[in-house]
Amino acid sequence: MNVLVTGGAGYIGSHICAQLCACGHTPVILDDFSNAKPDIPARLQQLTGQRPVVYRGDVRDAALLDHVFAAAEIGAVIHTAGKKAVGESVTDPQLYYENNVHGLLALTKAMAVHGVFTLVFSSSATVYSETNPVPYREGNAVLAGTSPYGRTKLIAEWILKDLAAADARWRVALLRYFNPIGADPSGLIGDDPAGVPNNLMPYICQVAAGVRPELTVFGNDYPTADGTCERDYIHVSDLAAGHIQALEYLAAHAGVLEVNLGTGQPVSVLGLIETFIKATGQPVPYRIGPRRAGDIPAYYAAVEKAKTVLGFEAACSVEQMCCDAWRFAKNSYGGI
Ligand SMILES: NC(=O)c1ccc[n+]([C@@H]2O[C@H](COP(=O)([O-])OP(=O)(O)OC[C@H]3O[C@@H](n4cnc5c(N)ncnc54)[C@H](O)[C@@H]3O)[C@@H](O)[C@H]2O)c1
Repeated sequence: MNVLVTGGAGYIGSHICAQLCACGHTPVILDDFSNAKPDIPARLQQLTGQRPVVYRGDVRDAALLDHVFAAAEIGAVIHTAGKKAVGESVTDPQLYYENNVHGLLALTKAMAVHGVFTLVFSSSATVYSETNPVPYREGNAVLAGTSPYGRTKLIAEWILKDLAAADARWRVALLRYFNPIGADPSGLIGDDPAGVPNNLMPYICQVAAGVRPELTVFGNDYPTADGTCERDYIHVSDLAAGHIQALEYLAAHAGVLEVNLGTGQPVSVLGLIETFIKATGQPVPYRIGPRRAGDIPAYYAAVEKAKTVLGFEAACSVEQMCCDAWRFAKNSYGGI
């Protein structure tokens, strides 16, 4: 099957493309490369032996979407394109609603016109209200969106639920990612953010590589075992595999599936740093700083639904996530 992967040159999208190839599917990438390096298609070719078809442009561009659906026989869409920095969404909400909500509307409009109704959507744990008990469980959870970014994801989920309620042809999987880290074991693709990283693992890697002098841990007085925030880190390759399982599920089921993709295991900020140091042998200088506004002490996924419904279970250990992230970082920063 030809699968359109919007944002397919990005961190998660590129890993999904690699898995699609491994499973005999053909990824078709639509990406504006606003947050992706131009050599990703070449790297994917090196990794998979298959040069992906790439359309460079904006997912909000109706004419481009029309062209893509007319040119390639698309069987399903995986929509990862979007903006993802929580802090930036607070200072520039317009950018986030424009990109993430308008992007989804343009895409689903084009899909319906071209008779494609199968969609896997990159949602996020940030759709859960922090008032929910942990682990966050699909079903009766309170959904609130903890930031403008989270609310764009929640609005997108509502749009997709409303579309499916209006037209029984829609088959939609809302995949609520927890904290994807790591990289393909080849070291060819990984998380390579432009500028100062917003996420912990790329920051750790840049400090380990000497690109930045030290890491600041935001607060060690939270009500957690070691006082630092706890998150549910999942290897990006496990996460990508979940998309293939979601496509298989949608081939047999109409309607909307909402499901968490995580490991169900909380890991603290200090725990991740210490595991990285032990697994890679690289020093990571860090200091404890004040709490960061908006950080929640701890959240992690309930994973039973993913296992029961999709047969999904994350396989990789935190050590493996650290080693794979570091292999990619070493390749990216060169000669370390
Ligand atoms: N990385 C995470 O921690 C995380 C967690 C939960 C959910 N998500 C969601 O997963 C998706 C992928 O995240 P990622 O970490 O791979 O981010 P990323 O920035 O690496 O990838 C997104 C890709 O989309 C492209 N893009 C952005 N806006 C576009 C537009 N309007 N048209 C076409 N292409 C566009 C970018 O160039 C980039 O290649 C996002 O929707 C994000 O919100 C990510």
